[in-house]
Formats: sequence, C-alpha cells, structure tokens
Amino acid sequence: MWREGEFSIYGPVRTGAEYPHGDRTKPISITVAGRSPGRTSACDALASGFSVNRLVCDLVHLITGGAGFIGSALARMLVGSGETVVVLDKLTYAADLRRLDPIRDSGRLLFEKADICDGEAVTRILARYAPSVILHLAAESHVDHSINRSGTFVHSNVVGTYQLLHRTLEYWLGLGEPACKRFRFVHVSTDEVYGALGATGVFSEKSPFAPNSPYAASKAAADHLARAWHRTYELPVIVTSCSNNYGPYQFPEKLVPTVISAALGDRPIPVYGRGENIRDWIHVDDHARALLAVSQRGRPGERYNIGAASERRNLDFVREICAVLDREAPRQDDRSYADQITFVADRRGHDFRYALDTSKIAAELNWSPREQLPHALSQTVIWYLHNREWLLTRRERDALHGERSPPTDTAIE
Ligand SMILES: NC(=O)c1ccc[n+]([C@@H]2O[C@H](COP(=O)([O-])OP(=O)(O)OC[C@H]3O[C@@H](n4cnc5c(N)ncnc54)[C@H](O)[C@@H]3O)[C@@H](O)[C@H]2O)c1
Repeated sequence: MWREGEFSIYGPVRTGAEYPHGDRTKPISITVAGRSPGRTSACDALASGFSVNRLVCDLVHLITGGAGFIGSALARMLVGSGETVVVLDKLTYAADLRRLDPIRDSGRLLFEKADICDGEAVTRILARYAPSVILHLAAESHVDHSINRSGTFVHSNVVGTYQLLHRTLEYWLGLGEPACKRFRFVHVSTDEVYGALGATGVFSEKSPFAPNSPYAASKAAADHLARAWHRTYELPVIVTSCSNNYGPYQFPEKLVPTVISAALGDRPIPVYGRGENIRDWIHVDDHARALLAVSQRGRPGERYNIGAASERRNLDFVREICAVLDREAPRQDDRSYADQITFVADRRGHDFRYALDTSKIAAELNWSPREQLPHALSQTVIWYLHNREWLLTRRERDALHGERSPPTDTAIE
C-alpha cells in the first residue's frame, strides 16, 4: 500500500535524517517518498536514502489511548514484533509517555496528540496514516473518578467512541479492495459491563449487561454503539471484555503500585471494606496478546471475553504482593508488610465479584493466558522495585523535580 504525506516520528530516526530543531529527543516531521519493496518503516526508508515523499507500510495499527497502561503494552508488543504503530492519545492525567520509552528509537512508532471526541482530528489522522487495524483503548478508566466526575466519562467513553466509529466508518467506506476487507476495529471493553456476580458462576459473552458504576455504564453504552455500527453499517467491529489487569507501568494510584508504595513508605496499606471482593487478575501482556489474536483472527460482529481464571479476594491479592516484598525487600524489623494492611470504607456500589467464561476465545482463536499469577505478580513487584519512579504520584514526582502539579485523587483500585 502506497501513501503520501507527512509523518511525525516519535523519537530519533536511526540514520539519514535531518533534525530541524536540533533535538534528537523531540518528534520530527518528515516527508517520505520513493519506492521500497515490501514492508518498511519510515526509519528504514530514510536509512535507505530515499528522496522521499511516500511511506510504505503494509499494516499500520492505530492505538487510541496508546500512552495509557494497556495501550502502551500493546504498542511495545507490536513494535517489538516489527509492526508500525500510530498512537493517538489526548494525554490526560492517566497518560505517561515514559511508557513508550522502550520503543522511542524504533522508528516504527508515530504519535498524535488528539482527542477522540474531536471528529475532524480523527478524520485527519485516519487519512494521514491509513491504518489497517484500529485498537480502541482510549477511555477514562478509573472507577473511583467516575463516581465524582461522571460527565467526563460519558464524554470520552460514549461521545468519543461515537465520534471514532462515525469517522472510521467514513474512512472505511472510502477504502478500496483489499484494504476494506482486511480492516478491523477492535473496541476494548471490560468485564464490568456485565455487573457483579455472587460467590459462584461466570459471565459469558451472552450475559446481559448490568453495569453498576458510571465507568461501567459508559463502557457498556460504548459497547452498544460499537455493536450497532457493525449491525447497521457492517463496519468490521469486534468487542472484547477483559478482567482486571496488572503489570509494569501501571498508573501509580492503581492497586499494585499503591500497595507497594504504601508498604515501602511504612504507611497503612488501604484495602476496601474487608477485602472480600473477588477479581480475576490478568497480566497486561496476556491481554495485549489476546487483543492481537482478536484483531487477526476474530470474527467481525462478535464479542470475546478475556480473562486468566486467576480469581483472588482483594485481601489475598494484597497479601501476595506483601509476601513478594517480604522476600525481595524485607522490612528492617523483620515484620511482614501484611501487618500494614488497613481496612478503609468500601467504595459506593463496589461489585462483589467478576469472573469470565473464556472458552470462546480459547476455542475460536486459540488464545489462552501464558502468565501464571504467582510468578507474573512476583515479576511485576520486582519491576516496580527496580523502577521506583513509577511508585510516585505525579504530585510527588513534580515535587521531587521542583515543579507544581494539579491535585489528583488517591484511590486503591
Ligand atoms: N485496566 C484494566 O484493568 C482494564 C480492564 C479491562 C478493560 N480495560 C479497558 O482498556 C482500556 C485501557 O485501559 P487502561 O487501564 O490502559 O487505561 P489508562 O487510563 O491507563 O489509559 C487510557 C488512555 O486513554 C487516553 N484518553 C482518555 N480519554 C481520551 C480521549 N478522549 N481521547 C484520546 N485519548 C484519551 C488517556 O490519555 C490514557 O493514555 C480502557 O478502555 C479500559 O476501559 C481496562
């Protein structure tokens, strides 16, 4: 596929490029031209000395929310396997471009700061990069924030998804063969759309929606839009519902980094209620691999559950983190970090349990999680111990660097 235009490359290009602003760490705009057989990246094109105003890439993945926790894991995985990725992100408080540092120099990462609610910007970006796959992860994702700031969630998650679907449909209708047949739109959603379970049972893809938080309701609304854009317009949309993710680079106020930083800081480790709520925990790389399987082999119009069958009571999950810390960074007084666990008032409308039947994605797409919770959680905790900057909230980081930052809420899940 041949395309013309200007491309912003995030990070320095290996060779052959001019840096107009003289700063190799800032994105540059280049114009790529010439003929290159097969797949290449802008970086390769430049390195090959093209007199360029065209870029050749046979498969461009557009990741909305790619500066977030899961989107960046997906971007790292795709770029690591030689694919070209365009990240579209508004850079809200939840974004952090440091997550993309490992692939900055790849020449295969392109970045656009944009809001999915801005339809004109979405149209411009689609025309510029001509993606074959859109992985839609951009969302307000913090359940606690949705209780106090529900309007932001409805705007980004519902109106934003509408704008993205609407603009993507226009783009897709303009694609010729075989690009339009190959195109996929993967809408990334959550198990929370199904509501809460009791002590037994699992949600299947056919379970009715019963979202309980404003976050879950906004995701459910977006899921309905995604489904309708397939049924009405035949846009090749696939929806996924995933359970709770953990892994490196998670926002510091989420459960795993919060527990570690409270433990190491000798502060109370806050656990909601009595810690009885049950979640199925999946490593973020398993989620990313599932999304790739869905984008490559999933059937348009279908929904796929993604989970790891690793259910834990919150209290037990926190104790597992403490046990890893006891081993890897023991307290000086030899007490367990678990002694710091403190119960705090439960979140309003806190769902008791989520669990997913994942037999559909296993049977149809041959996907199953690779990571085992005890080992992967241990590796995750060790990662945070080696990357302690990730345990600091933005305010703490800014204070460390002598800068001022707006206040953020504190939360533990
Ligand atoms: N974290 C989980 O455990 C989990 C589980 C299941 C599903 N999900 C879903 O996966 C997706 C990603 O979750 P995450 O944990 O990486 O979230 P995150 O909050 O870490 O990242 C979200 C990203 O989206 C961007 N964003 C927000 N609003 C935007 C807008 N209007 N336009 C453009 N960009 C915008 C943010 O800047 C941020 O970089 C979300 O859709 C979430 O609902 C998350």
